[in-house]
Formats: sequence, structure tokens, C-alpha cells
Amino acid sequence: MLKLAAALGVAAVLGLGALLARELWGGPSRSSAAPAVAADAATLARGAYLARLGNCAGCHTARGGVPLAGGRAIVTPFGTVYSSNLTPDAETGLGAWSAEDFWGALHHGRGRDGRLLLPAFPFTAFTQLTRADSDALYAHLMSQPPVRYTPPPHALRFPYGTQLAQAAWRLLYFTPAQPEVSSAPRTDPVQRGSYLVNGLGHCAACHAPRSALGGPSDSLIGGHMPGEGWWAPPLALAPGPQAAEEWVQLLRTGQSARGSTSGPMAEVVLHSTQHWQVEDLRAAAAYLQTLPPVAPPAASPAAAAPASVLSQGQRLYTTHCADCHGAQGQGAAGAYPPLAGNPTVLQPTAINLMLVVRHGGFAPATQAHPQPYGMPPLDLSDADMAALLSFVRQSWGHQASAVSELEVWRWSSRQ
Ligand code: HEC
Ligand code: HEC
Ligand code: HEC
Repeated sequence: MLKLAAALGVAAVLGLGALLARELWGGPSRSSAAPAVAADAATLARGAYLARLGNCAGCHTARGGVPLAGGRAIVTPFGTVYSSNLTPDAETGLGAWSAEDFWGALHHGRGRDGRLLLPAFPFTAFTQLTRADSDALYAHLMSQPPVRYTPPPHALRFPYGTQLAQAAWRLLYFTPAQPEVSSAPRTDPVQRGSYLVNGLGHCAACHAPRSALGGPSDSLIGGHMPGEGWWAPPLALAPGPQAAEEWVQLLRTGQSARGSTSGPMAEVVLHSTQHWQVEDLRAAAAYLQTLPPVAPPAASPAAAAPASVLSQGQRLYTTHCADCHGAQGQGAAGAYPPLAGNPTVLQPTAINLMLVVRHGGFAPATQAHPQPYGMPPLDLSDADMAALLSFVRQSWGHQASAVSELEVWRWSSRQ
């Protein structure tokens, strides 16, 4: 808020009004080109695949709603926004849009009327798309059945919903990709992987930290999501073919020998990565293997929880968890993930571990695991939750930090 006010103030003082004005009114103007040129089958198939890579339906489908008709609520630190209707309905969707207008949205983050779109729409990543990919996506969306539906209006706190605030935000955080980026041939697997991860796949939307104003970062060193605070871990991948193949398996099937994906990532696997061609997953892995590894926070050696807390945690584990995950956290192959050595258990923060225990859930249903087993939700007092999580993080040779009752309370009182 302060920074935003400061940016506006600085802009005014330094006479940057012209810059703000260019952000506000200087975009490509509404085109009058006739929309919807008939596309050939190969372009339509490619567009459908690109929509999977970009998970357009994941955000643009309300729970229980018609695919791509929009209306899904997206929680941000500044309020709730609703995704738009991407079906070709002339009044409520993209029916009147030309391919040029559509490119304006993906590349410049502008609506057909020139409106600065909110960055909850990951145009900061999509700006890297090639024009050919944008056109194929457009052709695919135009080939869908039109649905007449107007999503609810955004509910953002003042001043975040204003165009002036969006213009200031862009001065701070956004430049459209240079032509040499958005037209580069990406034949080399590492370049292709970078395009998939940083462009269409918009992995940084969750896996990178954000500034207090929601300013994006493209360093994939891990970040907390707004709302319940799921932590998306760093994406740098260990070298070697084995690490790459295990990673590919996790994103293709939702499960690997070390664990399964949960919460928001289970949705990404469900709607997007399970549909990626295996060469594309391998390219993404090859790119992530070029990133510098992220050292875990230099914590002092984790203090062991008091023995009384650990034995309370063990009792809770035996009652509520051991039937499925095994007395030694060994899991059961094909049904229940092991908890011994599980990345979710050992992360520097235990917030995901708490959210999994509290909400339960299902690993994503994928072709490889069409009917995954589920885990029931469990409601525990803060003290019991802290004891259980501490036990799991400090048993079976684990040395992760203990979890205090205060931490559990703080995590639980996030909005
Ligand atoms: C992380 C969620 C998210 C994903 C993923 C996403 N969108 Fe969106 N999109 C939004 C939101 C939210 C808006 C509304 C922005 C606004 O109103 O300012 C939006 C708006 C748009 C608009 C502008 C529509 C209009 O009426 O002004 C277009 C076009 C669009 N998205 C296309 C896409 C395409 C194509 C994909 C997949 C490649 C995609 N989106 C993926 C969240 C998302
Ligand atoms: C009825 C069987 C069942 C019970 C009881 C159960 N779980 Fe699970 N658990 C599962 C299944 C199935 C998954 C994989 C699906 C998912 O990720 O949601 C899972 C996933 C997890 C995960 C995520 C790790 C990963 O790799 O997906 C953690 C952590 C976890 N359980 C901990 C616990 C704890 C702690 C308890 C006791 C409070 C518990 N579970 C009770 C079946 C169970
Ligand atoms: C909507 C937010 C979101 C997006 C977008 C997202 N992720 Fe995730 N991801 C998460 C969260 C939260 C977790 C932690 C939960 C879990 O381990 O399943 C996670 C976990 C993972 C893990 C497991 C890491 C580990 O150490 O166990 C991998 C691998 C991963 N994501 C890859 C990706 C890739 C690749 C992309 C882009 C194509 C991506 N994610 C996009 C939220 C997201």
C-alpha cells in the first residue's frame, strides 16, 4: 500500500505522469478485424494442447461450472477476483475478439477495450508466448461452444481495483517480452523447458516469492500462496537422469516413490501436467536442472520437542494415521504414500503438512492412478496438532524442526 502510494507519488513528482498515461491509454487500440478465421485441424489440436500447458480451464472454470465459462473466485491478498468467460459468446465471452485483441491480452495484459487486466491473470508469464502459439490458442477457444454467462464483478479493496493502481503496478513490475523472446525458436530442450516453465506453465505464479504488492519474481525459489498459505517449494532439480525421471513421474501420475502431490499442486497435475507430452515434461526437468540449488534456510540444528510432546504425538499418530501410513511411516505401495522421507513432512515449513492433515484429500486422478485412495480430514486442537506434526517431523530418523502450538494457531488464523 505504502509502496504503491510512493510509486504514484514519485510518478507525480518526477513528472512521470506521461509514463502513467502511456500505461493507461497507450495500448493497442481495439481492432475491428473480423474475428474467427476458420482454422485447420492441426492448429486446433495444437491450441487445445497449449490450453492444457497453460491450464486455462483450471482458472477459467468455476466449481461445477461449464469449462472455460469463467467465474472461478481467485483469492489474492488484495481481495477476490473472478476469471473471465473465455467461450466465444459475443456479449459475455470472447466472441467479438480478434486474434489481435487476444494477443493484446496475453502479451500486453490488456483487455479488448484497452483495460489493464489484473495480474491474477498470469500475463507476466504469458507475455513470453509466441504469436503462433497465441493464434493457435485463440483458434481453439473460438471453436468451443459459446456460453452466455457473466462472471461476478471483482471485489478488490480500494485502490487496488483502479486502473491507476494497475498502471503504477506495471511501472514497477511489468514489461512485455521483447520480440526476440516472444519469437525465439525454442528447439533446444532447455530453451523449450524454460518456455514451458516460465511462459505457458506460469510455475512462478506459485513457486516464486512475491513482494508486498504482489509483484512477481521469476526466481523459482519457493513462495507462499495467499489464502491458507500453502507453500510451493523451490523448483531447482538435482542433476542426473534419476532425479529427472522421478520428477516426470510425479507430474505425470501425481505420485512418485517418495510421495504424492497435494492441495493446489494436485489440481495443477489434474488439469495440466498429466496431459503434457513426456518430452515436454523432460524438457521442463532439463531446464530446472540448470537452476542453482536453493540451500535450506540456515536453521540452527532443530531443537527436539520435549519427550512428553513426542509421546502425545505418537499416541495421536497410532490412533489416527498408522492404519494407513504404517507404524514406521513406511506407507503401502500403490495405496498410501510413505511418510518416512516424504518431502511434505520434511519441508522447512510444516504448513503444508498441517493443511494436508486438516483437510485430508485425494492425490489427483490420473491415467496411471485413475482411482487414488483418499485421506479423511482431521480436526485437532492446536496443541494436539503441534504434537502430532512434531512427532512426524522428528521420528524415523527425521530431524525437521518441531512445531509449536503458537505456529499452528498462527497458520490457522490466516484468512
Ligand atoms: C491463475 C489463473 C489464470 C490462468 C491460469 C489463466 N487465466 Fe486468464 N484470466 C484470469 C483472471 C483472474 C482474469 C480476469 C482479469 C481481469 O478481469 O482483469 C483473466 C482474464 C483473461 C483474459 C481477458 C478476458 C477479458 O474478457 O478481458 C483472457 C483473454 C484470458 N484470461 C486468457 C487466458 C488463457 C488463454 C489462459 C491459458 C493460456 C489463461 N487465461 C489462464 C486468470 C487466469
Ligand atoms: C484412510 C487412510 C489414511 C489415513 C487414516 C491418513 N492418511 Fe495421510 N494420506 C492418505 C492418502 C491416500 C494420501 C495420498 C493422497 C493425498 O495426498 O491427499 C495421504 C497423504 C498424506 C500426506 C501427504 C504426503 C504425500 O506425499 O501426499 C501426509 C503428510 C499425510 N497423509 C499424513 C497423514 C497423517 C499425519 C495422518 C494422521 C493424522 C494421516 N495422514 C492419516 C491416507 C491416509
Ligand atoms: C496454483 C499454484 C501452483 C502452480 C501454478 C504450480 N505449483 Fe507446483 N506446487 C504448488 C504447491 C502448493 C506445492 C506443494 C504441495 C505439494 O508438494 O504437492 C507444489 C509442489 C510441486 C512439486 C513437488 C515439489 C516437492 O519438492 O515435493 C513440483 C515438482 C511442482 N510443484 C512443480 C510445478 C511445476 C513444474 C509447475 C508449473 C508447470 C507448478 N508446479 C505450478 C503450487 C503450484
